[in-house]
Amino acid sequence: DVTSDLAVASTKGSKVVRRYREQTERKTAQEGQFALAGSNLGNLLGIEEAKEEPTDDDKQTYKDSQKFSDHMQNIDAVSDFALEKSIKEQREYLPVFAVRQSMLNVIRDNNVVIIVGETGSGKTTQLTQYLYESGYGDHGTIGCTQPRRVAAMSVAARVAEEMGVPLGNECGYAIRFEDKTSDKTVIKYMTDGILLRECLSDPDLDHYSVIIMDEAHERSVNTDVLFGLLREVVARRSDLKLIVTSATMDAEKFADFFGGNTPVFRIPGRTFKVDTFHRNAPVEDYVDEAIKQAIQIHLGAVDGDILIFMPGQEDIEVTSALITEKLNGLDSAPPLAVLPIYSQLPSEKQSKIFQRAPGGIRKCIVATNIAETSLTVDGIFFVIDPGFCKMKVFNSKVGMDALQVYPISQASANQRSGRAGRTGPGQCFRLYTTRQFKDEMLVTTVPEIQRTNLANVVLLLKSLQVDDLLKFHFMDPPPQENMMNSMYTLWTLGALDNAGNLTDMGRQMADFPLDPSLSKMLIVAAEMGCSEEILSIVSMLSVPSIFIRPKGREEEADSRKEKFQVSESDHLSLLNVYNEWKKKKYSSRWCKDNFIQAKAMTRAREVRGQLQEIMESNKLALVSSGTDWDIVRKCICSAYFPNATRLKGIGEYVSLRTGIPCFLHPTSSLFGMGYTPDYVVYHELIMTTKEYMQCVTAVEGVWLAELGPMFYSLKEQALTFNERMRETVRANESMEDQLRNSEASKAQM
Ligand code: CDP
Ligand code: MG
Repeated sequence: DVTSDLAVASTKGSKVVRRYREQTERKTAQEGQFALAGSNLGNLLGIEEAKEEPTDDDKQTYKDSQKFSDHMQNIDAVSDFALEKSIKEQREYLPVFAVRQSMLNVIRDNNVVIIVGETGSGKTTQLTQYLYESGYGDHGTIGCTQPRRVAAMSVAARVAEEMGVPLGNECGYAIRFEDKTSDKTVIKYMTDGILLRECLSDPDLDHYSVIIMDEAHERSVNTDVLFGLLREVVARRSDLKLIVTSATMDAEKFADFFGGNTPVFRIPGRTFKVDTFHRNAPVEDYVDEAIKQAIQIHLGAVDGDILIFMPGQEDIEVTSALITEKLNGLDSAPPLAVLPIYSQLPSEKQSKIFQRAPGGIRKCIVATNIAETSLTVDGIFFVIDPGFCKMKVFNSKVGMDALQVYPISQASANQRSGRAGRTGPGQCFRLYTTRQFKDEMLVTTVPEIQRTNLANVVLLLKSLQVDDLLKFHFMDPPPQENMMNSMYTLWTLGALDNAGNLTDMGRQMADFPLDPSLSKMLIVAAEMGCSEEILSIVSMLSVPSIFIRPKGREEEADSRKEKFQVSESDHLSLLNVYNEWKKKKYSSRWCKDNFIQAKAMTRAREVRGQLQEIMESNKLALVSSGTDWDIVRKCICSAYFPNATRLKGIGEYVSLRTGIPCFLHPTSSLFGMGYTPDYVVYHELIMTTKEYMQCVTAVEGVWLAELGPMFYSLKEQALTFNERMRETVRANESMEDQLRNSEASKAQM
């Protein structure tokens, strides 16, 4: 059964969301203006809807809920109590508290321990503190890794609060470009990517006394690589404690990986029954259904917060906006606090989900997968699960990783239901059928390492002198094809030589906490004489969208934005904004006047400072090209040539390497300007209704031939498609041969 309903639905996405988006695009295209991707989407439209009376469906659910309400009478008291308990009481109420001492004994007696416990049992917030209280922090840092940055920040904040210390003192966190730790820090939460990078400068991780690899069941690429590295580190360092925690059943597998005697400690759970309801027939539109379901629950009489899972930011924003709108349109609907959460949401908004809503009204949290296991919100009694999530998967059609929506696994579905049974018996509404659950969902999720491009990982491992990647101890080895692809990517960028060894360029690239193309761009910029410019551009690319478009002032905001736009390049437009801001002495007033997010700009400046330090320590020259911005475009081309496209029609391009159509995004500086360069390169491809190029720069055909000779050749001043394809295939083949040969020769070394 290849084309399952769910798989098809996941590629199609939600019609409701599309309508929202299309209205945005139409509006902006008509007016020759620019829509804003991402953050402000919800503000872009004011969909007018007539007042609606509750439907019969709503009334039926109301009745069902009433029955459910009888059954739950005592439960409200529990959740209210939970909210009013002191921090000490809350800590002691967690399941992990009951086994505190026996768990510490197992840790004392073993170097590696696997700890399994239901989500919300207190693993992430308590374990570090127990270890600290037992003296493990006296001779080193207690580190705890998280696959998600939001989780690292939010959990560190919570633990600092529980300890009664300012965040960044005894308890802090580090995520990419943001280090909130100090000399005092003993408990350090961090993303797994940060710890991985720390291995580069300190292979034995000497300043840690304990490392907790949290949320190991998530199986992020970084966690998987850390597994392999830490397995060696614990063998070398008998004074290091390694604790691997997991919410699910992978425990035995983890234990096996670290050696047969590795104990598995189970925290007895305290979970309540969750009634799970499936649909009788596949749903038409998951966003629409989720909205209806949420409103039905809300109009019912049962108290308790709602958690809706959505695949990504846009779905979340549209869902949140429409729920609010619909409720506003209903007479006498009780108030509801709709709270979105996703990784790009500013942290002060993120913490809202944990707080009690003003006036104690019902909360409806609309979240990505982050709420599946990483973050536990108390008081959730209802879960709505459309059955989808966003995953990074290598897409052979476009020749790179793409974040796309896929059906979740059965394991994920069960985790999601479980979220409703934390504080009392709950209900989970699955927006799919029992058959879809059984037949169309994988039992468990495929680990990221087996489905993504591993260029970053390869670069890192090569820098750690792990030369023979095929021999690296992976828990689940990536398919050889993945490795080849990743090595090929690195070879085209000049990071690996023909024998698959790290070049000087590659060594320098590994020093930057960036994607290989961005690091390459910085290094080349130093030679080309435009590193000041490229530093600003890379920093701006590393922060969320900077343009604001407040409701009611859209036109004003658009015209301001237009002033910054450089017609041949979005990268240069970003540079322009940064330079203007710098001229105004980094003024936040200036940002406000120009509809620019001051926080994001400040962040870009911090990122820039950090990248500049890395440049300096690598003796890469800091030079400005002054007013010559052509050289800046050429430098962009030197790193992004694999993403080159050729003009086909208005706003339409075609990828030179893969032949697929790619479109200018309406937010691009090049969109609707009447300026149509023959060739452009893009930063990334966003796949929504069409393949949209995000952040685009016009380049010259000759540059492509000069900078990307393995892909493109120059023929009568134009690149012909056939020739290019042949070149690509040839390059691919010879590269694979070389890689195979090099692997073979290395095996002898
Ligand atoms: O890691 P695990 O899922 O076992 O649990 P945890 O994240 O340590 O959560 C323990 C408790 O802390 C839960 O009741 C959470 O709701 C609470 N918590 C919180 O109130 N605020 C946070 N930022 C994180 C957790
Ligand atoms: Mg946790």
